[in-house]
Amino acid sequence: MCGIVGYIGRKDAKDILLHGLEKLEYRGYDSAGIYVQNKAHEGYLFKEKGRIAALREKVDASVEATAGIGHTRWATHGAPSVRNAHPHQSFSERFTIVHNGVIENYQEVKDAYLGDIDLKSDTDTEIIVQLIAWFVEEEDLAPIDAFKKAIVALEGSYAIALMDSENPDVIFAAKNKSPLLLGKGDGFNVICSDAMAMIKETDQFVELMDKEVATVTRESLVIENYSGDIIDRNAYTAEIDSDDLEKGTYPYYMLKEIDEQPAVMRKLLLKYQDENGKLTVDQEIVDTMLESDRIYIIAAGTSYHAGLVGKQLIESMTHIPTEVHVSSEFGYHTPLLSEKPFFIFISQSGETADSRQVLVKTNALGHPSLTVTNVSGSTLSRESNFTLLLNAGPEIAVASTKAYTAQIAVLAILSEVVGISKGLIKKGTMLHDIGIVANAMQAIVDDKEKIEELAADYLSISRNAFYIGRGMDYHVALEAALKLKEISYIQTEGFAAGELKHGTIALIEEGTPVIALVTEKGVAGHTRGNLQETQARGAHTMVISMDGLNRPGDQIVIPHVNPLLSALVSVIPTQLLSYYCSLHRGNDVDKPRNLAKSVTVE
Ligand code: F6R
Repeated sequence: MCGIVGYIGRKDAKDILLHGLEKLEYRGYDSAGIYVQNKAHEGYLFKEKGRIAALREKVDASVEATAGIGHTRWATHGAPSVRNAHPHQSFSERFTIVHNGVIENYQEVKDAYLGDIDLKSDTDTEIIVQLIAWFVEEEDLAPIDAFKKAIVALEGSYAIALMDSENPDVIFAAKNKSPLLLGKGDGFNVICSDAMAMIKETDQFVELMDKEVATVTRESLVIENYSGDIIDRNAYTAEIDSDDLEKGTYPYYMLKEIDEQPAVMRKLLLKYQDENGKLTVDQEIVDTMLESDRIYIIAAGTSYHAGLVGKQLIESMTHIPTEVHVSSEFGYHTPLLSEKPFFIFISQSGETADSRQVLVKTNALGHPSLTVTNVSGSTLSRESNFTLLLNAGPEIAVASTKAYTAQIAVLAILSEVVGISKGLIKKGTMLHDIGIVANAMQAIVDDKEKIEELAADYLSISRNAFYIGRGMDYHVALEAALKLKEISYIQTEGFAAGELKHGTIALIEEGTPVIALVTEKGVAGHTRGNLQETQARGAHTMVISMDGLNRPGDQIVIPHVNPLLSALVSVIPTQLLSYYCSLHRGNDVDKPRNLAKSVTVE
C-alpha cells in the first residue's frame, strides 16, 4: 500500500528517492511522484500514473536538488491518475506533502476551514496541505505549528512528510497508525515507510510512534509529541541484507521466494534450537500460553489460512481450544471471550491495519498477545507482548508464499514446545519432521517443469477453477485458491470437498478445472469420491496426493511427511501452478492488479 520516502543531505535527492520508491514497489501502488527542492528555494514536482519506470522517464535529469520527498499511491479516495498522485501542493505551491493512510473526517475538516473552495484533486490528502497553508496564511502560524495544528484536527490514519519551499533545509514528518521510520546518516537523514527503501543509504533507523512529529534536517532528527515534549529514542540497526532484495537470475520474486522455502525451513530450525539441539521458544510465551484457557488467532488473507492450519497444530499438540478469526471482522464483531484468552496475531508484514485494530482493543482489555511476523520492529510486533519471527528474509512478491509456510512451521514449533511443557508430548519430533519437509519441498521445486506443463494444460483458458479438500487439505485448498485468483485473475474457489454437492457443484461445466488435495488418510477416499462427482459433470480433474495415498493417474504426488505438516508441502505445487498460470497469461506476477503487499488501511 502507499509508500513514503524522504531524503535530506548532500547527494542527488531525485536518484535516492526514485531508488527508494522502486524498493517500495512490492507494497502495491498505481501512481507515484516525487518533489525535490534546492537551496535556492526552487521546487520541482514530478508525478505519473502507473509504474516507477514511467515516473523515472518523466523526471528531468538536469534538476539538481539535495532534499525531497516521494510517494507510491494505492488509490483510496479518487481514481489512480496524475491529478490524484502524490505529492500534493498548497494553492501557493509553498507547501508540499505526501501521505499514507486515510483521513476519515476530511469532509468535516474541509467544511470547517476551507469552505467550498475547489480542490485540485479528489484525494483526502490534499486537505492536509491546504489546511497547513491556511493556518500559516490566516493565523500567521510558523510552519511547524501549523503542521501540528493541522494533524491534531485529523481523524484516521496517516504517515506524512511535509516540505516548505521557504525553508528547504527541513522535512517535517508525523504519524498515526500508518508506519513511518526515520533513518540516520552522516550528513544526511531519511524518512521511509519501510527500512528496505533506504537500506542502501543507512541501516540506522528510529521508529516514529503514533502521535509524534519529527523535524528532520541534514544534521539532526528531533522527535516530539503533540504536546511538544522532546522524545529521545535510540536508533536500531535494520538487519536487511541488500542482496535479499534483488531478484538475481530469477524472472520474478515469486519464483525466487517459492524456491527459497526449503532453506527457510532449515533456517527456522536453526533459529529455534537451543545449545543442546532442542527446539525452544521463549519460556514466558510458553507459560502465558499454558495459563490461557483459549487461543484466538487473528489474521487476514494468506496469514489467516496459515492460522487455520495453526489451529489444528495447536489443538492437537497442546489441547488448548483455539479459534481462528478474520481480523477485519473480529474487532467490530467480537465474540464472547473466554476467561483467560491468549491472542496470536499472524502477519507477514506486521503492519496490517485490520489486525492492528484488534490488537489495540485486546491491549486495552489487558489480554496477552503474541505476534508471528516476518518483520522485526513492525507495528504488531512492537505493540504485542511477544514476538516470534519468521526469519524468512524479505518477501517482495505481493503473493505470499514463503511467509505462509514459515508461519505454519513457527506455529508447529511453538505447539510442540508447549505440548512438551504440558507433558502431552514425551519426545518431540518436529526438528526431524520439519527437516523432512524441507527435503520434500526441495524435491517439488526441483521438478517444477512438470507443474509448468500442468498449468498450461489445466489453467491456460479457464475462467473459473476449484480446489477441494477435507481437513488440512481444505485449509490448503483455501490458500491455493487465493493464490491462483490473485495473480491469474481466474475466479477460483477453495471448497470443503464434501460441501460442493450442496449447491456449488451447479457451477461445474465441461472443462472446469477441479483440483483435489489428498493427503489425509481418513478422508482420502471421500475426497476422491467428491472429485469423481465433478468429473461425471465434465470437470477437468487433477489430484495432488501424498506418497502412500496416491493412486495411478494422480498428476502430482508429494513425498510423504508427518500428516500434521502436510500443508507445508502440498501447498508448494499449488503455488507453482499459480505462478506459471499467471506467467502464461502475461500478467505481472509480482505486482497483481489492485493489490498491495502491506495493507495499512482498514
Ligand atoms: C496473499 C497475501 C495477503 C496477505 C494479507 C495479510 O498472497 O499476501 O492475503 O496475507 O494481506 O497480510 P499480512 O500477512 O502482512 O498481515
